[in-house]
Amino acid sequence: MNQLAQELNKTLEGTAALELLSELGKRFYFPKGIVAQTMEAAEHAYKFVATVGEAKNKKKPVHLSVIRNFIPGLDPDEIFPYAPTPGIKEFRLLWKEHMIKKNPDLKVKKTSFPLVMPGITTGISIIADMFVDPGDVILIPDLFWGNYRLILEGKKLGTIVTFPFFESNNKLNLKAFEQAIEQNTSRGKLIILLNFPNNPTGYAPLKDEILPLTRVLEKAAGTGLKILMIIDDSYFGLFYEDTIYPQSIFTPLANIHPNILSVKLDGSTKEDFAWGFRVACLTYGGKGLSEEQYTALEQKTKGVMRSTFSNSSKLGQSLLIRALKSTIYQNEKAENIKLLKAKYEKVKAILDHAGNNSLLKPLPFNSGYFMCFELTKGSAEKLRHYLLYEKGIGTISIEDRYLRIAYANVELENIEELYEELFKAAEAVAG
Ligand SMILES: Cc1ncc(COP(=O)(O)O)c(C=O)c1O
Repeated sequence: MNQLAQELNKTLEGTAALELLSELGKRFYFPKGIVAQTMEAAEHAYKFVATVGEAKNKKKPVHLSVIRNFIPGLDPDEIFPYAPTPGIKEFRLLWKEHMIKKNPDLKVKKTSFPLVMPGITTGISIIADMFVDPGDVILIPDLFWGNYRLILEGKKLGTIVTFPFFESNNKLNLKAFEQAIEQNTSRGKLIILLNFPNNPTGYAPLKDEILPLTRVLEKAAGTGLKILMIIDDSYFGLFYEDTIYPQSIFTPLANIHPNILSVKLDGSTKEDFAWGFRVACLTYGGKGLSEEQYTALEQKTKGVMRSTFSNSSKLGQSLLIRALKSTIYQNEKAENIKLLKAKYEKVKAILDHAGNNSLLKPLPFNSGYFMCFELTKGSAEKLRHYLLYEKGIGTISIEDRYLRIAYANVELENIEELYEELFKAAEAVAG
């Protein structure tokens, strides 16, 4: 094994993090190659910088005006050069500052410094490289974003095990969660992935669900089980009810038990309505981890990043630095969330008015972009097909049993008509 990897593993000795690492994760390190030498030269080279594969003229990056002219507010240095592998330092600092503002209880907890990824998808893939070996179990509530399967099973040969998301009273099924943990302890290691607000259901846990949920995990960790918690916070902050726990579940988990390592994946994709920018972050939190141990984890992760995408969009990060520093950022975001909340309330009102539809049963939802119907009869794929080809309405069918409606993507004034069509179609397809 490479000497640097051995040193990093030594630093992590005695932590759950080391035991949770995959074979690849154990092997990995950040080489002292071009990137590290370039960073070193940036500090010390006072005469000429002949390091990185970029081109300069008159102290500015060589560039095409045909591109630059479309981005007049930024300096060419903010647009064209590579960003560092872990991300632009100022962006990482600002992201952490905002993360603490959004999750005030994180203030007293130590976490790593966010690493910038080209999207949360990449963050999940990087974490899977770091921690998933073939046959490792990844526990996920039974309604989840389909790409998890492609990454965790398709690429990494892990085994996704699900448990029922909701109880009959429409609350999180913590009993099933606890049982599923108990049934999957044989490797001494368990990976759990939680995504709130959830895709596809649009559910985020309520304030009174957080303590029982964290207690389940604390109890499992107390038996000696090493747990990696992957927290997908893609839709964080799109909360429409006061009853919702207003922080990320990462916050209580970041410092709960030495046997639990948590990783938060969040980003500007949905939070800042910047889907195509490909800017997201990955942050570790684990009870008792020292600065040195966080750095070791970061070095390993940077090695996986360097070997996968090398670095993320400079332009995206530069634009977001400007936004995060702007005084109007919060207000503009609040306005957008208000619009999404109005759509949510419209859907709720329609469903309340419709009463109990015997064909389409809405699953609990209170946040995010989506809601889901469970079909009590017939095929969801058949319904999707009918809606698309007979009515021109696009929806998503899941496991032939659920129909996901991305109501956030539909104009407020069209939501009523959308739901009328959905109900009529369900009747027509059921015959
Ligand atoms: C739950 C969840 N995680 C991750 C993603 C992907 O995020 P990104 O576009 O930042 O890769 C999505 C996008 O639909 C999602 O729904």
